[in-house]
Amino acid sequence: MKPKIFITRKIPLVIYDKLAKHFNVRMWEEEDIPVSRDMLIKEIQQADGLFCLLTETIDAEVIEKAKHLKVISNMAVGYNNIDVKTAAEHGVIVTNTPGVLTETTADLTFALLMATARRVVEASDYLRKGEWKTWSPMQLTGQDIYGTTLGIIGMGRIGQALVKRAKGFGMNILYYNRSRKTDIEKDLGIEYCELETLLELSDFVSILIPYSSEVHHLIGENELKRMKESAILINTARGGIVDEKALYEALKHGEIWAAGLDVFEKEPVDLDSPLLTLPNVVTLPHIGSASESTRLKMADIAADNLIQVLQGREPLTPVKLEVKK
Ligand code: GLV
Repeated sequence: MKPKIFITRKIPLVIYDKLAKHFNVRMWEEEDIPVSRDMLIKEIQQADGLFCLLTETIDAEVIEKAKHLKVISNMAVGYNNIDVKTAAEHGVIVTNTPGVLTETTADLTFALLMATARRVVEASDYLRKGEWKTWSPMQLTGQDIYGTTLGIIGMGRIGQALVKRAKGFGMNILYYNRSRKTDIEKDLGIEYCELETLLELSDFVSILIPYSSEVHHLIGENELKRMKESAILINTARGGIVDEKALYEALKHGEIWAAGLDVFEKEPVDLDSPLLTLPNVVTLPHIGSASESTRLKMADIAADNLIQVLQGREPLTPVKLEVKK
């Protein structure tokens, strides 16, 4: 009998077909509506493998109901939606999709940085609303990118890919990371500093760390106060790293100049979020890795991880449980 898997969202047909060769597949067929928790819990009770997205919370309650489950394959690099510790305690392997989305996410991060600095969305709206009456000296002026300082919080794969883009713009690069990476500093020509210093010296601050409870609201009122009044905050990691209320206040009162956000504390962000009322915020619906080719590669790796584990082999990209010292 084929092992049973549950897929929590409609995935591309080629990937579905690949999985269907090996498994008895059940899939939540909707593209734009997440599976309900009740349905997830019902389906997972029978499943040997789960293919899920970052929209599903796979917590202890879900894992404990899953008596046959051997693998949770998340189609994302971030896995803060999964209780990895409880999974490990139940002998369930968790996998993610690192690597394939690095360049695409770095592209989007730089696109958001440029769009925010040069007020691209606001300027486009200005034209469409018929407000463009003439060319004038200080109309829609933004911040320069070339020759400025970029501070990157997190120097993993995406951080390093962002450095390469920023170097092309003659940017001076500072970084802060939990552990200092001296080899990378030399290779890429970047400088390590403490978070406080990074916030004080940077013209752009880009957040590229994974989310965990330890970094919840890492950027709050005090951190925003340290930033330059002309500075721009870019978040393409996870919304919970920034205190959105504090960010709103900082933007409204001119403590920082603008923000580019691809991620929010609650997703989808509420349409009445005060952040959406500010002209100096560029907002995107969590599309960091959203190129056609990258999303296919992510789905493919997620599928391969399921196949590997359920056929008794090592997963390609397992999530390692961090043991706190
Ligand atoms: C997207 O945010 C991901 O973690 O892959």
